[in-house]
Amino acid sequence: MEEKQAENGVVAMANCYQGFDPATYLQINYSPTPADLETKDSLEPWKMACLHRAFTEGDVSGELLVDIGSGPTLYQVMSGCEVFNKVILTDFLEVNRQELRGWLQDEGGCSLDWTPYLQHVCKLEGRQPSAWTEKAAKLRQVIMDIVPIDVHSPQPLALDVLPSAGADCLVSCYCLESVSPDLSAFTRALGNIGRLLRPGGHLLLIGTLRMSYYFGAHGVKIPTVPVNEAQVCASLKETGYTMIRLEVYKLPPDLNVWGDDASDVFFVKAMKE
Ligand SMILES: C[S@@+](CC[C@H](N)C(=O)[O-])C[C@H]1O[C@@H](n2cnc3c(N)ncnc32)[C@H](O)[C@@H]1O
Repeated sequence: MEEKQAENGVVAMANCYQGFDPATYLQINYSPTPADLETKDSLEPWKMACLHRAFTEGDVSGELLVDIGSGPTLYQVMSGCEVFNKVILTDFLEVNRQELRGWLQDEGGCSLDWTPYLQHVCKLEGRQPSAWTEKAAKLRQVIMDIVPIDVHSPQPLALDVLPSAGADCLVSCYCLESVSPDLSAFTRALGNIGRLLRPGGHLLLIGTLRMSYYFGAHGVKIPTVPVNEAQVCASLKETGYTMIRLEVYKLPPDLNVWGDDASDVFFVKAMKE
C-alpha cells in the first residue's frame, strides 16, 4: 500500500514535468545575469562562489564528474570542468538534454547566452573575464555525454554510462527537492544517486529550503517538497554521506522574483562513506 502510494507520487511528479519548458525556465531563473552576477550579496555570485570554493579546496579530485538533473543549465559545472577531465550531464527530460546539446554544438541553438557566467567564474579563478572563450572551449571538451536519468530509480543511469568504480564527484542543483513528492522520496533519491558515486567521492548539492512549488514554464506550477536544514542533514546521514559543510543563503524578501515560495538556498559539501 505504502509502496503504491510512493509510486503514484513519483508518477504524478513526472507528469508535472511534461509541461517544463527549458527556454522559459532559463528566462525566469537565469536571464538577468549580468546585473545579478555583479550585485554583491545576491544569490548567483553566492552559488558560484560555493561551487568554486568546493572544487578548489584540494580534496575534490579524480577523473569523472557527473551532474545530476542538469536541466537546461551549465553554470554548475563551470568550476568543476577545470578539475575533472570528464563531465557527464544528465536530465530526465529530452527537451533539457536537447538544450544542452545546443550549447555543446555551438551553432547558436541554445536559449541562453552563458557568457556572463563563464566570465564570472574566470574572475573567481583569478583570470581575466576575457578568458571566458577558453573556459567555454574547455567545458565543451570535457563534456563526454548528456544522458537520461531518473533519480527515483534504484539505478538512475543506464548501466553502461559510468565506469564500474562509479563517479568521483556528483554535483546536483535544485533537483532532488524539485522532483520529489515528499521527504521519503527525497531521501531515497539521495540514496539512489549515492550508488553512482565511489566511496570517498564527493557530493556537492545546492537546493531550496522550505519551497513548496516553482514554475517550470509560464502557468506550469510544479509542487516540490519543502525541506529544512535538519531534514537535509538527516537524509544525507541516513543515506551514507558524511557532511563536510552546509551553508545557507538567506533570500531577501525582494529578491524572490521567480514566482516560487523558497525561503532560502542551501549548499552542501559531503563525502560518501
Ligand atoms: C528545478 S530544475 C533544476 C535544473 C538545474 N539543475 C538548475 O540548477 O537550474 C529540476 C530538474 O530536474 C529534472 N527532473 C525531473 N524529474 C527528474 C527525475 N525523476 N530524475 C532526475 N531529474 C529529474 C527536470 O527535468 C529539471 O531539469
